[in-house]
Amino acid sequence: MTTLGKRDARVSWHPYTQHGTDTEPLAVARASGAWLELEDGRSILDAISSWWAILHGHGTKELVAAMARQAETLDHVLFAGATHEPAVRLAERLVDAAPPGLARVFFSDDGSTAVEAALKLAYHSQALGGAPERTVFLALEGGYHGDTFGAMSVGDPVPFFEAYAPFLFDVRRVAPEEAAVRATIEEIGERLCAFVAEPLVQGANGMRMYEAEVLRAAREACDRVGALFVADEVMTGFGRTGALFACERAGVAPDLMCIAKGLTGGMTPLSATLATESIFEAFLHTDRARFFPHGHTFTAHPIGCAVALASLDLCEERRVPERLASIGERIADRIASLADEPGVAAVRHLGGIAAIDLQPPEGDEGGYFSELAPRLRAESLARGVLLRPLGNVLYALPPACTSDGEADRIADVMAELVGLTRG
Ligand SMILES: Cc1ncc(COP(=O)(O)O)c(C=O)c1O
Repeated sequence: MTTLGKRDARVSWHPYTQHGTDTEPLAVARASGAWLELEDGRSILDAISSWWAILHGHGTKELVAAMARQAETLDHVLFAGATHEPAVRLAERLVDAAPPGLARVFFSDDGSTAVEAALKLAYHSQALGGAPERTVFLALEGGYHGDTFGAMSVGDPVPFFEAYAPFLFDVRRVAPEEAAVRATIEEIGERLCAFVAEPLVQGANGMRMYEAEVLRAAREACDRVGALFVADEVMTGFGRTGALFACERAGVAPDLMCIAKGLTGGMTPLSATLATESIFEAFLHTDRARFFPHGHTFTAHPIGCAVALASLDLCEERRVPERLASIGERIADRIASLADEPGVAAVRHLGGIAAIDLQPPEGDEGGYFSELAPRLRAESLARGVLLRPLGNVLYALPPACTSDGEADRIADVMAELVGLTRG
């Protein structure tokens, strides 16, 4: 183990890590473009954008410059009773870029806290609007929305959150199928507070993709019963599905939309919950106690906002959604023939995301805890590519700077890994 690895093993506690089995983290010294450079001198191609966050590439100089400029100008100021140019400008840009109807921006720190704010805004605005009995949230089976209690509640408890079951609020769940979604929303009717979904792609559930019709049916049914529509674009936002937002691609306009990860190009933590003007107005009153009692120390952090603005500029200049889609297509084309190979259950692709469902070996139930995951992760690293399978789902979701040659390398390593599962 490297020296850093030894020190780490004594004091660190890593996310989503079983320290009893996963004993040697990558010791990363620096990163640039699509590459991580390790302490031992090896270079590793980051094919998953470091948990889907790095949008343009590591160390993007425009973002570094924006960060430095902002740190010198205004590092941090509370956002209650104060405001600043980067936050206002970013909110203006986001409202312009977002699906129609979203008019207000509430900043938070990460995906989970953006979802938490959305859930609270959904229920609280319904209650203030005279419908406190709307206590039911409807989410999709297999959804993942983060790790705070509200976010865990709307996420599928399997495979991660069963340990916290006594503390999670009740949520109805439905398969991502048009008829079922429509019928369930209508059945819950006036008790439904909001429908919550990752639009088009369920990331943590193994890059499961579903039809836009499901979302359009949900939107119509929510309108009919007076429920809100919450889109969790934490993973899908900023071009990952080939459009700036998956909602845009699906042709739906949500009432609340959560964004994080790629918002800052992955350089600093920052997230936002976008809301319609009518949700904002539900809280607007002369009664001071009728406000939204929520916020964090670093809400609308100026450095994060400045980096996000620079990242949005790059999204436009470099046509990031189109670029991601062409990288995704290139990888998908190169792995398409694997669909017919033994051991492969399915191959799928949307925008900048390409995924392969592997058949787990005998005795392995598959799913997130499939033994294929640690094995294939190690084998991919041995080939100089960071792929971190979600159980028996091998996927790539690389940053926009990924060259054609790098995309081919990712696809070839995916194919080699598929070959290994048969060996
Ligand atoms: C769709 C979705 N929502 C929410 C989250 C939580 O985001 P964070 O890890 O930044 O809290 C994630 C993280 O992967 C996600 O994919």
